[in-house]
Amino acid sequence: MSVSTLPTRSASLYDRVKTLIPPIEWPVFAEDIDAILRLKQQRDAVILAHNYMTPEIFHCVADIVGDSLALAREAMKVDAKVIVLAGVHFMAETAKMLNPSKTVLIPDSRAGCSLAESITPADVRLMRERHPGVPVVTYVNSSAAVKAESDICCTSGNALKVVESLGVDTVIMLPDEYLARNIAAQTKVKVLTWAGHCEVHERFTAAEVRALRVDYPGVTILAHPECPPEVTAEADYTGSTADMSAFVGRERPRRVVLLTECSMADNVSVGYPDIEFVRPCNLCPHMKRITLPKIRHALETMTEEVTIDPALADRARRSVERMLEVR
Ligand code: 13P
Ligand code: SF4
Repeated sequence: MSVSTLPTRSASLYDRVKTLIPPIEWPVFAEDIDAILRLKQQRDAVILAHNYMTPEIFHCVADIVGDSLALAREAMKVDAKVIVLAGVHFMAETAKMLNPSKTVLIPDSRAGCSLAESITPADVRLMRERHPGVPVVTYVNSSAAVKAESDICCTSGNALKVVESLGVDTVIMLPDEYLARNIAAQTKVKVLTWAGHCEVHERFTAAEVRALRVDYPGVTILAHPECPPEVTAEADYTGSTADMSAFVGRERPRRVVLLTECSMADNVSVGYPDIEFVRPCNLCPHMKRITLPKIRHALETMTEEVTIDPALADRARRSVERMLEVR
């Protein structure tokens, strides 16, 4: 089947991903894309997709794309009856918390996160006992139950502002040790940490960054703040996935590397054919559980629905809403 004889809804979309998907592979995606576009209309659904989704999801079926902060803000505004969250479980929980009357579906509920797994509500209570009166700032990469035990949430895009908004000299920042240490390096506020790590970003090393500079002269190196501080110290810029994307658009480096999940560079590269994207990257096995066939299945069967106990959701929502008030 040639690209022009494919199902009508998806035929025009190939242009968006033609630099990433060879024509011979496109028919495999086109049928699911066509079905998903039809099902979205039938079900009155929107797809919110994280920046780490594969290009055929990100560019061809998503209605809204972004980092965790943008997805939380956009989830609140959704009017449609159904939200399909193409991302990991904590993102779907956050969407449900912020827009509880909507049906929120996740295409694979096993899409977790090593950071969310690293801490329990009992751990948060223990930290409070050890450090009485110190506010708890919790990264959104956490369960609703952990958010419910926290004072305020943060994302990689607003962590510094959130910490400084509290007007205190010490905060507890959970669960990402590296994000906490990267923020501590930018503020006078003392930051107490937890030993959680992102299994994707903790694998980047400072030696790897130095080798990139030798192998790719002139390369601009952008890092996610979940990377170890030794890595961010060697990078030219550190920011959330949305911040990295904005940096590329604004600064137009000739050659760039994004020290983060692999799909990120693929998705950004589509808009900048003149920029060379050097691609050492690490795959997130949790994000990669979300595929086109699973999104289609979610919309066909209206599963898997994300639910949160309403009392727990109320407590968790307070932490997220407090974060969203910080500008
Ligand atoms: P962002 O909020 O920067 O998109 O990060 C989410 C995440 O899970 C990164 O690993
Ligand atoms: Fe969690 Fe890391 Fe995957 Fe992001 S990349 S979802 S922080 S495991």
